[in-house]
This record gives sequence, structure tokens and C-alpha cells, in this order.
Amino acid sequence: MLAVKNMMCVKFLAEKPHFIPIIAKWVYEEWYDQEIRTLSDVINYYSHFLNTDKIPLSLVAIDGHKPIGTICLWENDLNSHKYLRPWLSALFVPKEYRNRGVGRLLTNSLISVCAGLGYKNLYLRTETASAYYAKLGWDFLEETVNDKGEKTLILKKKTM
Ligand SMILES: CC(C)(COP(=O)(O)OP(=O)(O)OC[C@H]1O[C@@H](n2cnc3c(N)ncnc32)[C@H](O)[C@@H]1OP(=O)(O)O)[C@@H](O)C(=O)NCCC(=O)NCCS
Repeated sequence: MLAVKNMMCVKFLAEKPHFIPIIAKWVYEEWYDQEIRTLSDVINYYSHFLNTDKIPLSLVAIDGHKPIGTICLWENDLNSHKYLRPWLSALFVPKEYRNRGVGRLLTNSLISVCAGLGYKNLYLRTETASAYYAKLGWDFLEETVNDKGEKTLILKKKTM
């Protein structure tokens, strides 16, 4: 177990692979272009994230027996910036579980995992949530465009 807060805990998705279909559905509905990808594509994709000691990996927040949020660590989240690694991505908490600190707990757990793997810095890009990460202590690194040509901000966090 990576973290515990009230009734919530955070585990590697590798310890709870049966949560993949529900997590993939959240992520699919939030971010994926459903004309290009199917839910099955995303479910298959998550099977690559069942690591605990190397990238890519995923964490899941759990309340009792229910998944209530997720986050990923992977090699790269922006084709133009492959020289930066690793990246936080796909942080998602369903609406009914928001504003209870689940996002913060997942983010802090991922930072600890990253430090444990020996990475001194962690990166992310965001089009919509830079204020959220700034509140969690992330530093602005650069403004650029994402692979779709939309404005995006790169943020950085020291892990140790
Ligand atoms: C962003 C997200 C993960 C936050 O999860 P959460 O568990 O509600 O977050 P926490 O409980 O740790 O923090 C809640 C606080 O963050 C604020 N917040 C949430 N989303 C925000 C955003 N996009 N920008 C600024 N602040 C935000 C809330 O208003 C709340 O503020 P308060 O503490 O002052 O009341 C969740 O809203 C989500 O899944 N959103 C959709 C996906 C997304 O945007 N992911 C991040 C993409 S890079």
C-alpha cells in the first residue's frame, strides 16, 4: 500500500488489475476521441501499466472496495519534449469523489513512487488544470502547444 487517508488508500494498479475496465472507461470518456479509439483499445492499453518498479505504471485510489481515482506515470506525454522524463498523466477522479483530497493523495503518491525509482524530477502537461497543480506546489516550466496544436503548459515537480 502506498498511502492511506481516512478510509482511502492508494495501490499500484498491478495489485488491482480487475479495476482496469472501470478506470479505462473513465479515461476513455474524459479524454479519448471516440471516433478514433474504442473502449477496448484503452482497456488493452492499460494492460501495459501493470508495473510497480518501472515505467509505465498506474496507481488507483480505493475507498473500501471501490476505485475512486487513478493516475499514471509514463515515459512521455508530449512528442515535442521527449528529452524530459518521466511524466504524470491521466489523473482522474470521478465527480462524486471530488474535493475530498483524492487527487492530491494520488499526485503525492506518484511523486513518492517516482522518487523511489530514482527520478529527481517529474513533469506534466495540462490544458485545463494548471491552477490545480500550482496549488499542489508544481512549478511552471514552459508554455507550448500539444500534439493537437492547442496551448498547453508544462509543469515540473522535484521529487526529492
Ligand atoms: C483535477 C481533479 C483530478 C481533482 O481531483 P480532486 O480529488 O477533486 O482534487 P483534490 O480534492 O485534491 O483538490 C480539490 C481542489 O482542487 C480544485 N480544483 C479541481 N480542479 C481544478 C482545476 N481544473 N483548476 C483549479 N483548481 C481545481 C477544487 O476546486 C478544490 O479546491 P479547494 O481545495 O480550494 O476546495 C478532478 O477534478 C478531475 O478528475 N478532473 C477531470 C480530469 C482532469 O482535469 N485531470 C487533470 C488533467 S491534467
